[in-house]
Amino acid sequence: MKHPEILAKMSLEEKASLCSGRDYWNTAAVESVGIPSIMMTDGPHGIRKRIKEKTKEQKKSLMGVPAICFPTAATTSCSWDPDLLYKMGETLGEECLKEQISVLLGPGTNIKRSPLCGRNFEYFSEDPYLSGTCASAFIDGVQSKGIGTSMKHFAANSQETRRMTVDSVVDERALREIYLTAFEMAVKKSQPWTIMAAYNRLNATYCAENKWLLTDVLRNEWGYKGIIVTDWGAENDRVAGLLAGQELEMPSSNGIGNRQIVAAVRSGIVSEEYLDELCDRMIDMALKACEVRGSNYTYDSDAHHEIAREIAEQSMVLLRNEDHILPLQKEQSIAVIGEMAKSPRYQGAGSSLLNPIKLDNAFDSMLDMGAKVQYAAGYNKKTDKTDFTLLREATELAKSCDVALLFLGLTEDFESEGYDRSHLHIPQSHIELLNAVARVNPNVVVVLSGGSAIEMPWLSKTKAVLHSFLSGQASGSATANLLFGKANPSGKLSETYPLSLEDNPSYKNFPGTPVSVEYRESVYVGYRYYDTAKKDVLFPFGFGLSYTEFKYSGLKLSKKKMKDTDTLTLTFKVKNVGKVDGAEVAQVYVRDQESTIYRPEKELRGYKKVFLKAGEEKEVSIELTKRAFAYYNILLHDWHVESGKFDILVGASSRDIRLEATVNVESTVECEIPDYRESAPDYYTADVNAITAEEFTAVYGKPLPPSERPAGEKLTLNNTLEDAESGVWGGRIVGFVRTAIKTMFNENESQMATAVALQTPIRDFIAMSMGVFSPKMADGLLMILNDESMPKGLGKILSCLLDVIKNIGPLLNSI
Ligand code: BGC
Repeated sequence: MKHPEILAKMSLEEKASLCSGRDYWNTAAVESVGIPSIMMTDGPHGIRKRIKEKTKEQKKSLMGVPAICFPTAATTSCSWDPDLLYKMGETLGEECLKEQISVLLGPGTNIKRSPLCGRNFEYFSEDPYLSGTCASAFIDGVQSKGIGTSMKHFAANSQETRRMTVDSVVDERALREIYLTAFEMAVKKSQPWTIMAAYNRLNATYCAENKWLLTDVLRNEWGYKGIIVTDWGAENDRVAGLLAGQELEMPSSNGIGNRQIVAAVRSGIVSEEYLDELCDRMIDMALKACEVRGSNYTYDSDAHHEIAREIAEQSMVLLRNEDHILPLQKEQSIAVIGEMAKSPRYQGAGSSLLNPIKLDNAFDSMLDMGAKVQYAAGYNKKTDKTDFTLLREATELAKSCDVALLFLGLTEDFESEGYDRSHLHIPQSHIELLNAVARVNPNVVVVLSGGSAIEMPWLSKTKAVLHSFLSGQASGSATANLLFGKANPSGKLSETYPLSLEDNPSYKNFPGTPVSVEYRESVYVGYRYYDTAKKDVLFPFGFGLSYTEFKYSGLKLSKKKMKDTDTLTLTFKVKNVGKVDGAEVAQVYVRDQESTIYRPEKELRGYKKVFLKAGEEKEVSIELTKRAFAYYNILLHDWHVESGKFDILVGASSRDIRLEATVNVESTVECEIPDYRESAPDYYTADVNAITAEEFTAVYGKPLPPSERPAGEKLTLNNTLEDAESGVWGGRIVGFVRTAIKTMFNENESQMATAVALQTPIRDFIAMSMGVFSPKMADGLLMILNDESMPKGLGKILSCLLDVIKNIGPLLNSI
């Protein structure tokens, strides 16, 4: 323990008070012994610190103080450049210093299991190695400034549908090889100050009280030293959470959780020594945070804006460039079409929504560069329906210009935290506009926005597509620079773009039943599936074009034969054989030539972004250790390499392998290898759609947790209004809520509001209102929803009304 002298002076109540927030964003202080309160805020792509005095408009939104809005994780991962993520982290750290924020709630490190996940814009990749290196660099950057991070959402939180209750059912091998790896890499390398336990359950137990996850794996196996904080409202049972190793409940439950901890210690369920250990870590974080706290920090917002632009330029991906139509030339007349050219979609929605300090747009940036551009809105961003007047104006303009430059993609309504997408299309009005413009002008260039994969049945109508993702407040100028060749595209996709949603390996099991979601595809996520099943894709993982070309040569391995405990160094050369400077992301995949256990065809094990002047050549060197060849053996409870030949594949994408060599690896461990050839044969052919419940059970290794609520089971605090819909009063209440939301919000907001209202467990009415909705009121509500007694239930709720009126003001003010 680091602070025994402080702990010795604290009462049990004071210790318990450290285990939940003071309010929505601050930890509790114990001033008598010198423990300060510290502030935590979102995150992750800029800071969203609460504005103290909000205007009416600001009260309606989640926006915080003006801050630099950086590209989201789905974008920055496409830079494949940890140095850039480190720089972004440093920059954010400086902004936290100015705003006196001690912990920034990010990075989002979940794996993109399905392209439908509404929050994919906030996550790095479908690949754990790329996610882990990005997360680690981001954390190192922020923490280099003495500011903490909160790597989230731990773990298997890969969907928004019923995110607060759903049980993610994942076999241990998939967990270890896919869903936990990025967290593991970043914990071991960067020790984030905090890790945020996810809302969902993992294999039947809430993440925030999952001892296997939080203590056995995270602390004991990986050596995690920091704080485990709940996602906001993810606490289910405070004492179970504490015993599982989780220090901090957020936001405050207004003393409820603390009282439960005190009672648990008094009754001997929790020992005071154990509580001391957790409090010691809380004290340590608060004191560490104070080392850099001061009121005179400032930062140069123009310089930070430039950094945001550099990251955007390095991350956007050139997907298509027929006839070398890009870069555009200043003398060409250009019809700039699409509202997003002037009003960009540049950030996500939900808890990461920022109030940007300034906002570039591509049209003005192109004008400033002296380009011959004219504008037509083409569509109305607020609706999916074609506005024929706008469409006609756009086609007229397109007819008269050399190039039609269209800004299309996912508008704000199409993806958000809180709900998942139901398809991968861009708005119909954008597609109709593209079709109409392509009929009158053959030189169609599309700039695409959006934070997740998109289907592009319209691709052949275009000559070029530049994917700008969600690129932050400088996205407009970065786009203009790339379009006109002031910068050379060098981003590569961090997720596969399938031809259609149905091709995705999770398609049949997303988002699951009202109770659980079975990750039946196991390790076959993203390109691991597409490449093993040899499925055609629209754009493969790791793909991206440049205005120049690169030649790979001279792959050399330091050994032809090695033990699994040795390190293999591979070297190769990359040459820029074109006429302009550029950067190439060279990727290293490993393929087990022959294995007893089922494995993906190849897996990313290393990469390097190489900056090369025209004509320049550089040697790249990458080291591979045991994990590059290993699978997770659930019988050995460890990583294991099967002896044999492994191909080392060096390429420009997962489907563009330029160099190959083979190494013979000998295992130093004798062990049994799980064999499912009889019990689960479809895993050996990656036929994910054929996998049955029995096959998944075999791989899962025990009976699957229930996927339905038992008939007649009473509703509890862990149920949602949606669960109550089949009841008499539940049905009426749900009906009322749906109608009320429809009248209060627009279409987009109502999707989010409906998900929040109907899919939040009742226990969270208490937690998220910091106790304003009291346990007694929850009791009353449950009496009604269980159709026990409407009058009694209502009576209980109404008896608390005075307290609600008294406490609602302070609550609203602290959010
Ligand atoms: C989100 C977290 C976020 C927290 C605080 C939650 O709903 O899942 O990512 O950090 O709210 O805003």
